[in-house]
Amino acid sequence: MTVKEIFETMDYGPAPESAAEALAWLVDQGDRFGHFIDGAFTAPGDGFESRNPADGEVLATLTQATQADVDAAVTAARKAQPKWAGMGGAGRARYLYAIARLLQKHSRLFAVLESLDNGKPIRESRDIDIPLAQRHFYYHAGMAQLMESELPEAEPLGVCGQIIPWNFPLLMLSWKIAPALAMGNTVVLKPAEYTSLTALLFADICRQAGLPKGVVNIVTGNGAVGEMIVAAEVDKIAFTGSTSVGRRIREATAGSGKELTLELGGKSPYIVFDDADIDSAIEGLVDAIWFNQGQVCCAGSRLLVQEGIAERFHDKLRARMDGLRVGNPLDKCIDVGAVVDPVQLQTIRELVDGNTAGHTHHAACDLPENGCFYPPTLITGLAPSDPLMQEEIFGPVLVSCTFRTPGEAVELANNTRYGLAATLWTENVNLALDIAPKLAAGVVWVNATNLFDAAAGFGGVRESGFGREGGWEGLAAYTRPKGKRAALKPVEPVTGDGAPVDPIDRTAKLYVGGKQARPDGGYSRPVWGKSGLLGHVGLANRKDVRNAVEAAAGAAAWSKTTGHLRAQILYYIGENLSARADEFAHRIDKMTGKRGGAAEVEASIQRLFTAAAWADKYDGQVHGVPIRGVALAMKEPVGVIGALCADEAPLLGLVSAMAPAVAMGNRVVLAASEPYPLAATDFYQVLETSDVPAGVVNILTGSHAELAGPLAKHLNVDAVWSFSSSDLSEEIERAAAGNLKRTWVNNATALDWSQDHTRRFLQAATEVKNVWVPYGE
Ligand code: NAI
Repeated sequence: MTVKEIFETMDYGPAPESAAEALAWLVDQGDRFGHFIDGAFTAPGDGFESRNPADGEVLATLTQATQADVDAAVTAARKAQPKWAGMGGAGRARYLYAIARLLQKHSRLFAVLESLDNGKPIRESRDIDIPLAQRHFYYHAGMAQLMESELPEAEPLGVCGQIIPWNFPLLMLSWKIAPALAMGNTVVLKPAEYTSLTALLFADICRQAGLPKGVVNIVTGNGAVGEMIVAAEVDKIAFTGSTSVGRRIREATAGSGKELTLELGGKSPYIVFDDADIDSAIEGLVDAIWFNQGQVCCAGSRLLVQEGIAERFHDKLRARMDGLRVGNPLDKCIDVGAVVDPVQLQTIRELVDGNTAGHTHHAACDLPENGCFYPPTLITGLAPSDPLMQEEIFGPVLVSCTFRTPGEAVELANNTRYGLAATLWTENVNLALDIAPKLAAGVVWVNATNLFDAAAGFGGVRESGFGREGGWEGLAAYTRPKGKRAALKPVEPVTGDGAPVDPIDRTAKLYVGGKQARPDGGYSRPVWGKSGLLGHVGLANRKDVRNAVEAAAGAAAWSKTTGHLRAQILYYIGENLSARADEFAHRIDKMTGKRGGAAEVEASIQRLFTAAAWADKYDGQVHGVPIRGVALAMKEPVGVIGALCADEAPLLGLVSAMAPAVAMGNRVVLAASEPYPLAATDFYQVLETSDVPAGVVNILTGSHAELAGPLAKHLNVDAVWSFSSSDLSEEIERAAAGNLKRTWVNNATALDWSQDHTRRFLQAATEVKNVWVPYGE
C-alpha cells in the first residue's frame, strides 16, 4: 500500500478534549451567574440561557442587567478610578502581569469554556484566542510600566464603557480591558449575550489577582444593556460588533464628549496573483474564511483571483474544502466548528439561499445532525456588484470573482464600503509592496492571513470603523492630553454701519480648486472692524462645499508626493507669509479690534515651519511581531479633511489645522473663522504664490452652522474637525455616522491656540496601516 493510499483510506479518529473541568466550574458557580460589580458577583437575577451551539445544551443562566445594575457598575468604576490611576504605571503593571500569569495558568479551562460557549474548534481557542489574550495583558503590563516615561503628556480618560461581540469573546475582552487598565482607566464591560462565560471566568481571575474592586466591572445582557452603557456617565465607549450598531452608537454619543472607537464589520479582499504559491494561498484561504466558521470581522471573505489561474485555483480549493472536517468543536481533529447561535445560522442560510448568481459549492463533508453547523461554501463567478460580493455574511462562505491586471485587482478590492483588512499573495515582492499601500484597509497581510499581535495595531478605515487596538497607536484611544481645557466662548463679529473705509468694493471670493470662485448662492456679507467696513466675503452654501470637496478629491496625487516635497511647499508658504507679516497683523488687529495680530502671524509662521519639519519625519514603525518577518506600521493620510476653523484666531487657527494635515498628504476644505474671515481670504493669495497644487487647500467663508452639515454628511469627506466657537459637535458627529467618518470636535471646550498642538493634529491627520510581511523559506 502506498502512503497516498493509506492517507486516502485511513479512517479519521476523533480526539476529543474533555469538557469535564469546564462543566465542573460551571456547576461550582451554581450554573447561574450575576454580574461582577465592585469586586464581587451579584446575586443572579432574571435572565436568559446560554447554550452550547454544537448541541443546544444549556450551559448556564445569565442575568439580564437592569438600569440599576449598570448604574452600580459605573459608580463602582468611577469610585475606583482615581486610586487606580494614582498608583502609577508600575503599580498597575504588576496587576496586569498577574492577570496574564493567571490566564496562562488556567489557559486550558478558558479554551474549553470558550469552545463550549462559542462553538469554535478547541484547536483555535487553545492555540490562538487564549494565547493572544495572554499576550495582550503581558504587552500592556509593559505599556503601563512605560506610561510615565514614554507618554508624559497623556492622562487616562476615566471610566470606559466597553461592548464586545461573540466571535472572540475572551480575546475581544482582552483587547478592550488591557490597554484601558494600563493607561489608568477603569471599565464597565458587557460581553455578547451568546458568549459571556469566559468574561465571567475572567472576573474570577481579577479577584484572584487581587485587582482593586471596581477597576473591572462586567455586566451581562443583550443590546438593551449595551444601550444603557452607551447612555451612562462614562468617558469613552469602545465597541466591536456590527456596522449598524456602530452607527447607532455614533449617533447616540454625538456631542456628548464621550470618546469613541468602533471596530466594525468588513468584506475583506483576498487577492491571489497568478505568480502566487498556489498551495500556500489555498491553505491561507482555509485560515482566512474557515477560521472560526468565518465569523471574523477581518475574514478574507472576498476572493479575487487572477483570471489565468482562476479555474485551476478554484478546482484545488474545492478539493481542499471537501477535505475539511466539520464537527464537535471539542474534537482536536476538526477544522470547522459550530456557528455561534441558531439566529446566526439562519442569517447565513438566508443570505446564501437568496443568491441566484454564480455557482455555489458546499463542501462535501458530513455535518453533525444536530447543532448549528454550516458547510464550508464557495460561490464562484460573481460580479463585483452582486449582493454577496458586498454584504458581510459572517459565516463560512467565500465569494469569488476574477481580475486581469493588478490595477483591476486594486479597484475591485477597494470596491466596498468597508476597509478592515486585505490579504495578497504573490511571489513578487515589488508587486506586493506596490499593492499594499493602495488597498483601503487598516491591515494588509502579504502571503499570510489573519495574523494578530498586541504590538501591531488593529482597526479599519471607512465603514469598518475608527481607532486602533494594540500597539502604541491603540493607547491614544485610552488617553487624552493632560491639562484643563477652557469652556468655548462664542465669538461675535463686529457690527457697524456707515460708509466703507475704502470706497472700492472688495468682496473676497472663495478659494476652490486653486481658483478664486464666486459663491454659488451669489450672496455676501459685510465684514466690519472697529474702524468701519473692511470688505465683504462670500457666503458659501452646500453646493460650494460640494465643489470644494470635489476639488480636494481630485487632488489625490498630493497624497503620493514625498514628505520632502510637502515640506518644501510648507516652508515656502511660511516664507511668503513672513514677507507679508505686517499686512496680515494689521488686518487681524482691524478685524478683532485687538492688538494680537503680530504675535498671531508669528505663531502661524512657526506652525507652518513645524509642520514642514514633521512632513518627512512623522514616520511609521517596524514592529517586532512574533513571526519570521515584520509588520510595517505605515502612516497614511486620512484623505479629505473638512475643518471648521477657530473663530477667535483667524489666521493661527486655520494654519494650525491646515499645515499638519497638508504635511501628511491630506487635502483640506477649510471653513474660515466666521466672524473674522478676511485673514483666510488674504491667505489664499499666499497659497497662490507658494506652489500649492490646485485642490489641496480649499477655503470657504460663511456660516459654520450652514457648512457643518454638508461637510459632515459628504461621502467623499473622510474626517471632519470642528474648532468653531459655535458648538456644532453634536450635529457634526450625528451626520458623520452616515459613512462613519472620523471626527475631532471641540465639544464645548476650546483649544488654546497659543500652544503648539501639532502632534495632535499629525495624529488626527493620519491612519496607521499595518502591513505584515513574512519572509524566509
Ligand atoms: P451586534 O453588533 O448586534 O452585537 C455586538 C455587541 O453589541 C453585543 O454585545 C450586543 O449585545 C451589543 N449591542 C447590540 N445592540 C446594541 C445597541 N443598540 N447598543 C449597544 N450595544 C448593542 O452583532 P450581532 O447582532 O450579534 O451580529 C450581527 C452581525 O454583526 C453579524 O452577522 C456580523 O455581520 C456582525 N458582527 C460583526 C462583528 C465584528 O467583529 N466586526 C462581531 C459580531 C457581529
